[in-house]
Amino acid sequence: MDMFVVKGGKPLQGSAQLSGAKNAALPIMAAALAIDGPIVLHDVPNLADVRTLCELLNTLGVETSRSPDGNLHLEVTDTEPCLAHYDLVRKMRASVCVLGPMLAKRGRACVSLPGGCNIGDRPIDLHLKGLRALGADIRIERGYVIAETDGLVGTSIYLGGPFGSTATGTCNVMAAASLASGTTTIEAAACEPEVVDCGNFLNAAGAKISGLGTPFLKIEGVEKLTGTQHSIIPDRIEAATLMIAAAVTRGEVELQNVRIDHLTAVIEKLREVGVAIQQTGPTTLKVSAPNQPRFQPADCIALPYPGIPTDIQAQLMALLCYADGISIVTDKVFPDRFMHLPELVRLGAKIRRESSSAIINGVAQLSGASVMASDLRASAALVIAALAADGESVIRRIYHLDRGYDQLETKLNALGANIVRTKDTPANMPASLVLDDQTDAAPPQLLAGPKWLQKQFKARKKV
Ligand code: EPZ
Repeated sequence: MDMFVVKGGKPLQGSAQLSGAKNAALPIMAAALAIDGPIVLHDVPNLADVRTLCELLNTLGVETSRSPDGNLHLEVTDTEPCLAHYDLVRKMRASVCVLGPMLAKRGRACVSLPGGCNIGDRPIDLHLKGLRALGADIRIERGYVIAETDGLVGTSIYLGGPFGSTATGTCNVMAAASLASGTTTIEAAACEPEVVDCGNFLNAAGAKISGLGTPFLKIEGVEKLTGTQHSIIPDRIEAATLMIAAAVTRGEVELQNVRIDHLTAVIEKLREVGVAIQQTGPTTLKVSAPNQPRFQPADCIALPYPGIPTDIQAQLMALLCYADGISIVTDKVFPDRFMHLPELVRLGAKIRRESSSAIINGVAQLSGASVMASDLRASAALVIAALAADGESVIRRIYHLDRGYDQLETKLNALGANIVRTKDTPANMPASLVLDDQTDAAPPQLLAGPKWLQKQFKARKKV
């Protein structure tokens, strides 16, 4: 298993290029199941989740390959398979996006329920509600969704849930409705840019979807969808992550190929905290640290788009650990998405949980420590906190990060960070974080700790 060894304290300087958006690429790749003919996708990020979905699509009769220029090629060659197996679906819950397109095209689908994850419950009741509304017969048996239809029929669907709209649920129902007979309206559709990108891809394949980016979609069913090519939008979550990393290390970074219109809420909140953000071109942003010594505290609430994305809530929390005052971070989308909180506390942050909010009492400095990643965005938050912390940190279970960031440490090191990816073994632990050789001076009951701990004890002994 890999871990990161991060030496903190280096301001990030330079420029970075964004990768394509994971949360657009995944539903778009799944939609290939509804399309006849070759598909070419540009700017698909090189991620573990993309590789997992390719593996799943291969079992469902979709050939996938990366050409030397990095484009992803997909084509359906066998429409018989219809089982999305638990072993693959449990690795990545976005696999549920194969349900709608496969059902619409093949008349049947058997997809494993995705199971939970570390950011909270991940129900798919709204996905199933939408597909049932289109006339599908759906039942749950032995951990699988079994769906059948003799042909989906357009209808009106309200897709809102207790936590707002559903991004992948909208993609699932939108893809299915594209091949239904008649017209479908979806009310309370998700407006995330990644959902819009999926709808634009389906339209390029011959679908007739209007209202993209608004809560009201209209989909006129068509006979068939044909192969096309499409460029995945830049990843706004990666952009926000890099912006926060630049700010927290008090550096200056220019981001390229940014969809600035996708980052309005993020830019406004970061400016409120004191981060200097300047648009230096149609798709370039220059981000630098504030000219005052500390960041300003803030009240941040993660909401469905166009609100602050839940996917940067953890990264924002890492930044606010350094603010001068009390900040509150609330997640209205995933109220339990706080696995990063105790790990930030290990780095010296002062945070406590109050139901779906975290109260952060900012400190001037965090200190390097050994921490554990728990999910994709929590990993990013720990990297951000470690980049600005005093001394060395170790971040374990970094495979979480590899699911959703395309070579993040490479991009950060190119900006001046000092992150080493290594195997998680005692030999690779940095000297500052490992136990010293047990010496006679250290009483046996003192559990081994780093040199600074030993020194503390010796000081007390003299008293
Ligand atoms: C997508 O997940 C993203 N993943 C998530 O990014 C992102 O956090 C989330 O949207 C919200 O923006 C992909 O696109 C692959 P939802 P999704 O359905 O679609 C509830 C990351 O870090 N809900 O929009 O699964 C749900 O529990 C990942 O990149 C239902 O109640 O999220 C949540 O509270 C994490 N019933 C809220 O709605 C349903 O049927 C939003 O979920 C579906 C969802």
